[in-house]
Amino acid sequence: MQRRQFLKSAVVTGTGLVILPSGTLRGAGAPSNKLNIALIGTWGRSHAYHGSLADENVVALCDVDENHLASAAEKFPHAKKYVDWRECLEQQDLDAVMVATPDHTHAFISSWALNRDLHVYCEKPLANCVAEARLLRAKYLKKKHKLATQVGMQRHAIPNFNRVRELIKDGVIGELRNVRAWGNRQLRRPGYLPAQGRPPKHLNYDLWLGPSPYHPYNPGYFSGGPGMNCLQWNMYWDFGSGQVGDMGSHTMDLAWNAIDAKLPTSAKGEGDPFNPEVTPVELETSFEHPANDWRPAVRVYWYQGGAMPTPPKRFIDLNKIGHGAMFKGTEGFLVADFNSRLILPLGKNGDMTYYKPRPKEKLIPALGNFIKEWTKACKGDLKTSCDFEYSGNMIEQLLLGLVAYRVGETLEYDGKNGCVTNNSAANELLSNTYRPGWTLEG
Ligand SMILES: NC(=O)c1ccc[n+]([C@@H]2O[C@H](COP(=O)([O-])OP(=O)(O)OC[C@H]3O[C@@H](n4cnc5c(N)ncnc54)[C@H](O)[C@@H]3O)[C@@H](O)[C@H]2O)c1
Repeated sequence: MQRRQFLKSAVVTGTGLVILPSGTLRGAGAPSNKLNIALIGTWGRSHAYHGSLADENVVALCDVDENHLASAAEKFPHAKKYVDWRECLEQQDLDAVMVATPDHTHAFISSWALNRDLHVYCEKPLANCVAEARLLRAKYLKKKHKLATQVGMQRHAIPNFNRVRELIKDGVIGELRNVRAWGNRQLRRPGYLPAQGRPPKHLNYDLWLGPSPYHPYNPGYFSGGPGMNCLQWNMYWDFGSGQVGDMGSHTMDLAWNAIDAKLPTSAKGEGDPFNPEVTPVELETSFEHPANDWRPAVRVYWYQGGAMPTPPKRFIDLNKIGHGAMFKGTEGFLVADFNSRLILPLGKNGDMTYYKPRPKEKLIPALGNFIKEWTKACKGDLKTSCDFEYSGNMIEQLLLGLVAYRVGETLEYDGKNGCVTNNSAANELLSNTYRPGWTLEG
């Protein structure tokens, strides 16, 4: 029996922790119900995983910076070390990978890992262009009967997310009309950094660039603190999608979790003048979503970098909420930040007699530890809250907004086929160009 199948059936059959005869596992660990995990990108964001992995085997570490690799090896001394993730993924005893590298490599590593039937936890944003999001979702959907995926949108575990969902679904503001999410982070840069110095010996800069078109080395791309270094490179088109993929992934999730949307039928966007090197700071995008079985068609908005929705009342200052979401319904508004929510009944039925709160026993159960939701899913029912379908749809929408912004026209979108039907120039922008030798399919 395959190691992964065993881990799964051990939990599914309720046998709990099963002791296997020595040698049954492919990994280096003792007989146990543990996953063999590769950490790809071992510094920065990856540190946030360590605590949740105490019950698993970290058997491989991969980082383009050998200093970062050495530092992770102090924590996981038995893991094999790699500089190139393509070699790391060839290690035969792996069950799962966790990807905490820069955004422009997420789709590559995740795709190659799914091709090897590995469970994947990938940092947000899942993808750097529409085509990457579509590829990963499709690949995952084909393998969801045997693989668990999760995108690092860990705020999803904050109980407020599901409280907002319950309120919206239960009709606390009447029938939903639209939802607007926003973020206030502003990191202005003129263009790619100029060539400066040589990469230090411990850094393989060519592998850091990976699939990205070539840009000369500059230490500025590496000058941020652990877990914050993404703010040194994620605003450049070839490395990230700016705040769309960064805080957009977390904040749109607050809205996305409450509306059961899939792909939009149209997108539009406006913002800062287009800079071919740097993504816009100020941006407003919006999307039409068809009706589903519990709500009518809705419009979804994303605002960033100074663009903001109009508040529902003059005495409410939305600017005081750095990252938030506002839902409008026929009977009022719900305004939320990550941790709290405010209901504002406004309609002529503003007495709220139309609303029946759900009983305590019907509340959505707490998600618990977000990383453990995934490790447990890998060994059990494969279900996670931010899998590559849910998160893939969400980031595809947001990245389509960037395309609409670039062409400056409302786009009609055929989500089934992944194409814009009224603008051929927009279709060219749905995918990225990679350096020769790099392929999403490996
Ligand atoms: N979920 C969250 O709240 C959260 C918070 C911070 C960062 N992030 C995400 O985590 C990712 C990493 O962000 P960061 O600030 O830690 O960035 P970072 O620049 O510090 O990179 C993280 C690590 O990846 C290594 N690395 C770079 N390219 C690599 C490659 N091709 N192969 C292997 N290792 C590679 C770097 O050397 C570094 O050790 C980003 O995608 C970011 O969006 C998520």
